[in-house]
Amino acid sequence: MSDRIDFAALPDDFAWGVATSAYQIEGAVAEDGRAPSIWDTYAHTPGRIDNGDTGDRACDHYHRWREDIGLMRQLGVGAYRFSIAWPRIRPDGDGPVNAAGLAFYDRLVDGLLEAGIAPFATLYHWDLPQALQGRGGWPARETAEHFAAYAGVVAGKLGDRVAHWATLNEPLCSAWIGHLEGLMAPGHTDLTAAAVHGRGFPADMREVYGVELPERAGDPETMAQPLDWLGLNYYFPVVVAAEPAGPPPFARPVRRPRVPRTGMDWEVDADGIETLLLRLTREYGARTLHVTENGSAYPDVLRPDGTVADPERTEYLHRHIAACARAARKGAPLAGYFAWSLMDNFEWAYGYDKRFGLFHVDRATQARTLKDSGRHYAELIRSHPRRGTPRTS
Ligand code: GCO
Repeated sequence: MSDRIDFAALPDDFAWGVATSAYQIEGAVAEDGRAPSIWDTYAHTPGRIDNGDTGDRACDHYHRWREDIGLMRQLGVGAYRFSIAWPRIRPDGDGPVNAAGLAFYDRLVDGLLEAGIAPFATLYHWDLPQALQGRGGWPARETAEHFAAYAGVVAGKLGDRVAHWATLNEPLCSAWIGHLEGLMAPGHTDLTAAAVHGRGFPADMREVYGVELPERAGDPETMAQPLDWLGLNYYFPVVVAAEPAGPPPFARPVRRPRVPRTGMDWEVDADGIETLLLRLTREYGARTLHVTENGSAYPDVLRPDGTVADPERTEYLHRHIAACARAARKGAPLAGYFAWSLMDNFEWAYGYDKRFGLFHVDRATQARTLKDSGRHYAELIRSHPRRGTPRTS
């Protein structure tokens, strides 16, 4: 691989990790008291997901989590980012706590700690309890209050062992793609609902989009709590051209010629992650940064000899890690990198055809097979000369 990785720029306790999310891997959607989420509903709506796929079984991680911790050990990662399914914990969103649901994550966290892997828990990776959607979903302010209560329940159970918490995964996707474009759950197309999020409601955005937002006194202060760390999910940059005549967001993506693309048709541009990490450092004053997702999908083939050669993903991974190290060298307070994803899984509206994993998953047998990219990642982790254990606080 041509790009040299400046390992010395990364801290001793750098978190080398992998990431997943609940609905994409767990399956067992009707077990132990779990109720449907908006993604169960969306996935079961004809025409929404490629090939009619759903997360009903996914990677069956709910039953195979021990084996999956074994995969992480094979990679040698020191950290694992996963998400907690709200509809397992409080199936009605705000009703009784489901002890069996909490117990699953309790076992998982203990298993990770026994394996020497630091748990990074995401509280919301898009699987809102359907019951709350029925009462207005995220546009209804009570949902935020129920989220805070659910977060308290989870923290009460796992907070003694989980030091790293993420609140909302990619709010842009829930807000914009789920509520304006309608291409993710809940599948709405309502601009007022889409524009709820952020550090207060930016005046220029209100003006541009011409929407009235339900802000109350004290909201900006509540939203703008100091962060222990900021997570960046980076896959590709988008170059846009202004389109003042609309529709929102008054810009259109420009397709750059001669730029390599992944199986998602996303540009491969490792410099972009360096730029972004440095911007988050300079413009947002981030105190600690983690790359909480970065990865690529390609149409992998499991060969008869039991190997998966994925040179493009291997190169993508290597170059992006090299770019992260460059950003760290230039001053970005980068504390961790989480490859998306541990294994091939349910890629939302694209179903199972888009494979992002470092492990290949056979859909029929659920067999997991290490890809060449996973092997390369393991080698990189081993070559971090001062590798220690990720920070626990
Ligand atoms: C997202 C999610 C992941 C995706 C991944 C690949 O960023 O969309 O966090 O769940 O699977 O990004 O698209």
